[in-house]
Amino acid sequence: MNRFDGVRVLLTGAGSGIGRATALRLVSEGASLYAVDLSCEGLAETAAAAPGPGRITTRVADVADEDAVVDTVRAAAEALGGIDVLVNVAGIHRTTPMDRLTAADLERLFRVNTVGTALFCREALPHLPDGSGVVVNVASSAASHGNPYMTAYAASKGAVLAFSLSLAAEVAHRGIRVVPVSPGSVATPLAGPHVLPPGLDTSYYARIRAPFGAARPEQIAGVIAFAASRDAACLTGAEIRADGGSHI
Ligand SMILES: NC(=O)c1ccc[n+]([C@@H]2O[C@H](COP(=O)([O-])OP(=O)(O)OC[C@H]3O[C@@H](n4cnc5c(N)ncnc54)[C@H](O)[C@@H]3O)[C@@H](O)[C@H]2O)c1
Repeated sequence: MNRFDGVRVLLTGAGSGIGRATALRLVSEGASLYAVDLSCEGLAETAAAAPGPGRITTRVADVADEDAVVDTVRAAAEALGGIDVLVNVAGIHRTTPMDRLTAADLERLFRVNTVGTALFCREALPHLPDGSGVVVNVASSAASHGNPYMTAYAASKGAVLAFSLSLAAEVAHRGIRVVPVSPGSVATPLAGPHVLPPGLDTSYYARIRAPFGAARPEQIAGVIAFAASRDAACLTGAEIRADGGSHI
């Protein structure tokens, strides 16, 4: 498939996990990609894995830094000659049992996951073409299903979901689509055993184990690619929950 021939994509979180898999999937389908991450090494690995040299332009930037976001989106638009698709994948996780919840954890989660996503949307939207521009924001199944010890993370992702639905309504008159994609458990560095450290009652998680198990990042990349492609031309303002059936 070459659904992204000639399509210019700005993608955050491209240095690892779902973001890297999405970068490689979109480039393999023809996209020109501007890849952003905090990790220089992660970006280099992603670019090195791309099919053919020079397919991915990389930039180290912190999505939580407003000035950096403004500069990054401007640079992406210049480098690509415009932006057709924005994919916000960058995110962090913190385990926050209520007795250990701190304001600092809450603020950091919201700053990266929610504010970072919102700032990229604000800056990229003027560049997106009327009638074909697309925004895909990675939320989480935690946005709409309870998960013990993840209150702060879930709240930050619930905000990404709510933000995306309202943004879809706001830009629909321009023919721009906004699609929140909510993965369940995905096998990436973000979701290792550290998420549930010893001492916590994990019986809830044993009960909701997804029948398909944890997804591979490439499977979520396939869902994001669909959402961003013309195959999803009638899809906007609707969450795609890709959680392997953990809540059926
Ligand atoms: N892995 C899961 O189970 C899972 C489930 C639901 C949602 N998600 C979401 O998917 C997205 C990708 O997660 P992943 O599992 O691939 O994790 P990951 O840790 O493998 O990748 C996250 C990437 O985001 C980058 N990043 C973090 N903070 C950043 C910042 N301030 N500025 C720029 N880049 C930053 C990291 O450097 C890393 O490359 C996240 O938004 C995460 O919340 C993951």
